[in-house]
Amino acid sequence: MPESKAQNGGDRQVRVWCDGCYDMVHFGHANSLRQAKALGDYLIVGVHTDEEITKHKGPPVFTEEERYKMVRGIKWVDEVVEGVPYVTTLQTLDKYDCDFCVHGDDITMTADGVDTYHLVKSADRYKEVQRTAGVSTTDLVGRMLLLTRNHFRQGQYEYEVAKDHSSNLGQDSSARSPWTGCSQFLPTTQKIIQFSNGQAPNPGDKIVYVAGAFDLFHVGHLDFLEKAQEQGDYLIVGLHTDPVVNRYKGKNYPIMNLHERVLSVLACKYVSEVVIGAPYKVTKDLMEHFKVAIVVHGQTKVMEDEDGEDPFKYPKEIEKFATLDSGNTMTTEKIVERIIRNRLEFEERNSKKEKKELEILSRMENKTV
Ligand code: CTP
Ligand code: C5P
Repeated sequence: MPESKAQNGGDRQVRVWCDGCYDMVHFGHANSLRQAKALGDYLIVGVHTDEEITKHKGPPVFTEEERYKMVRGIKWVDEVVEGVPYVTTLQTLDKYDCDFCVHGDDITMTADGVDTYHLVKSADRYKEVQRTAGVSTTDLVGRMLLLTRNHFRQGQYEYEVAKDHSSNLGQDSSARSPWTGCSQFLPTTQKIIQFSNGQAPNPGDKIVYVAGAFDLFHVGHLDFLEKAQEQGDYLIVGLHTDPVVNRYKGKNYPIMNLHERVLSVLACKYVSEVVIGAPYKVTKDLMEHFKVAIVVHGQTKVMEDEDGEDPFKYPKEIEKFATLDSGNTMTTEKIVERIIRNRLEFEERNSKKEKKELEILSRMENKTV
């Protein structure tokens, strides 16, 4: 198969194809696209319609318009093709002039149990990348439904709560497929390096600072960061720690822990740098340290700090604060509400998917015996 331009002497661009549902886009998806892009020079991503996903695996959490936008926001993606068929054909690869198709090392099947990549596999136009263990749409849905805080705190109380819920989603899932059945995500510095742009601001760059939870990174965040980035040349996102987010959001928030939120935000094409565990108050020290020219915030309510102070008091006093309208009303809480409303459908979808994967696995094992 062709190698990337750098490897083949620079005479020909290698075009890579990926496709999928990309529902509740998370850093696992982003990591697969990062690896796919590294196999060539230009990355095209096909995204399925709501109708197609409903037919093969059950209703998606996000609409197709939201999913198209989220994939376009990932920094390794060069182009998005909307509404591609579930089974990847050679005609599709040829239409977009792609050399080969890339997918994670899990198995994706149609409603009838057919491997969606059988055509490209038999034509030897298929490459596999490593799936990111410990994160999947299914796992995130599980965290929301179980209402546990195990993903950021390992207390006895939360463990008991998790045990009490007889859900078959997420960390306490009883079915154990090696693909969808999740293990814990293990963050490493290597992963952060791979996701990071690794670029300091250029002298004279206007630095924009935003801070927040950015939990379950969604289209509202994406629209906000696009506008924030337009305010300057270099966008820094400060991420609050898990206990800080839990103080002002309550319940079992954040759904994603700090490490996971760091990778989700770093995967966004508008972001230049992330502060891992930013102080809740935007202080003089912080602004001077990062040479921040302007602090921006969206239309969402700003919660007071523990001492009752406005966290943006300092930038407001020195007139370096602006409010932006993302034009999008999505919030993390709305996503959780959507999931809880559709709880039964998601549970059914998950157990069906794991059952199918376990069947395939036992067929594969029987073949090797
Ligand atoms: N992917 C990955 N690592 C993950 C999750 C997804 O590498 N933790 C990859 C898949 O292997 C695939 C692409 O992301 O190449 C798109 O996946 P998608 O079709 O959206 O399905 P999943 O996210 O795997 O669906 P689910 O979470 O419901 O299992
Ligand atoms: O709520 P969270 O802390 O994740 O928000 C991060 C930033 O994104 C905040 O500035 C918030 O106002 C902004 N945002 C937005 N539009 C949305 C959701 C969040 O502008 N729909």
